[in-house]
Amino acid sequence: MNQKITIAIDGFSACGKSTLAKALASKLGYSFIDSGAMYRGAALFFYRLGFVSKVHLDEDSIHRSINNLSLNFKLIEGKNCLFLKNENIDDEIRQSHVAEVVSKVATIKAVRVQLVKQQQEMGRNGGIVMDGRDIGSVVFPDAELKIFVTASPSIRAQRRFDELKEKGIPQTLEEVRENLTKRDHVDSTRTESPLIQVDDAIVLDNSSLSKNQQLEWIMGKVEHRINA
Ligand code: CDP
Repeated sequence: MNQKITIAIDGFSACGKSTLAKALASKLGYSFIDSGAMYRGAALFFYRLGFVSKVHLDEDSIHRSINNLSLNFKLIEGKNCLFLKNENIDDEIRQSHVAEVVSKVATIKAVRVQLVKQQQEMGRNGGIVMDGRDIGSVVFPDAELKIFVTASPSIRAQRRFDELKEKGIPQTLEEVRENLTKRDHVDSTRTESPLIQVDDAIVLDNSSLSKNQQLEWIMGKVEHRINA
């Protein structure tokens, strides 16, 4: 498999997109970009400036300071970590104060334009697996392989709850469920680049699949696409 393609993985919150994308990229020797981490990074930046909270969103101030947002991935001990200028924010972006505001920040066109430009630059030479909400529709509409991942809401909530618990981030299952429901609603109904299943995406319902089974499934799709 010498030809390096672009692979777009989209889907609802906490359906395992990043886990799948990361494992696939590592198997193929491709780069992996978690676009959601970038939206979380932007949300943290504006949260710290006081421009967004659970109860407000100051779009004008976000517009005015968007050019000061500087996000980059750096490899730290084999892990691709997100940096805000020189600060490693990879752990903080998973915390609840960020999860609570990220979808609001992601509705803002200026934020999306800036991040999409950076994402497209990262994927300029192919050989990339990127996951998010608008990868197959907006970031890489010409991607050779597009996957739309889904899983039942209760399974997604349980998986995210377990993940946060393992990272020592305190949240109840109910709080996790509520956050996923809210984000899915905002992400699917926003005007700018809503989460949609594009016509040429292949659906993967991984509710009853193990990590290895879903990796095998997608490897089959990659091989098929490359040999087509
Ligand atoms: O990990 P999880 O699926 O819960 O979310 P994520 O991929 O980290 O994305 C966090 C939030 O960023 C989403 O709920 C969206 O509001 C936003 N996002 C987006 O708008 N577009 C993307 N390409 C990726 C994420």
